[in-house]
Amino acid sequence: MKFTTAFVVLAAVLGSCYLVTAQTHNYFFGARVPYDTLVNQTSVIQTSSFLRVKSLNVEYPLKGQRGRNITAIYVYDRLGGGRGGFASITKGGIGQNFTRIHLKTQRGNGMNFQVEIYGR
Ligand SMILES: *[C@@H]1O[C@H](CO)[C@@H](O)[C@H](O)[C@H]1NC(C)=O
Ligand SMILES: *[C@@H]1O[C@H](CO)[C@@H](O)[C@H](O)[C@H]1NC(C)=O
Ligand SMILES: *[C@@H]1O[C@H](CO)[C@@H](O)[C@H](O)[C@H]1NC(C)=O
Repeated sequence: MKFTTAFVVLAAVLGSCYLVTAQTHNYFFGARVPYDTLVNQTSVIQTSSFLRVKSLNVEYPLKGQRGRNITAIYVYDRLGGGRGGFASITKGGIGQNFTRIHLKTQRGNGMNFQVEIYGR
């Protein structure tokens, strides 16, 4: 219980919720609101490679397209087992109409993320 409380406080301080369980590296930025919709959903899969860190960016919207006002970005770790990678927003994001999400593997591990971007 103490750990849970400490974690909730930490998550609040960081302003986003990183679920630190041993099993999954899910990342939840922002929150859904009424009438928002899924504006992009994409899977990012990278195989593991000995001693290497692989990274990749997901960009929204596609070049030349208009973006919706982003309400939430949910990144689900489908690898599990504590082997999943890391996700961070490096451009735009919640309350803006564009974003870049940086995905990175742990050294020597792969990644299998499902990224969902909601906007209105
Ligand atoms: C969603 O984003 C991905 C990665 O940027 C892109 O490849 C895909 O075409 C996008 N899908 C739609 C429907 O915009
Ligand atoms: C974001 O919104 C601004 C202001 O409404 C607009 O000028 C710009 O073209 C939009 N960008 C995208 C990527 O939709
Ligand atoms: C998105 O919505 C938020 C909250 O209504 C607003 O503060 C922000 O200016 C909006 N951003 C854009 C790019 O329209």
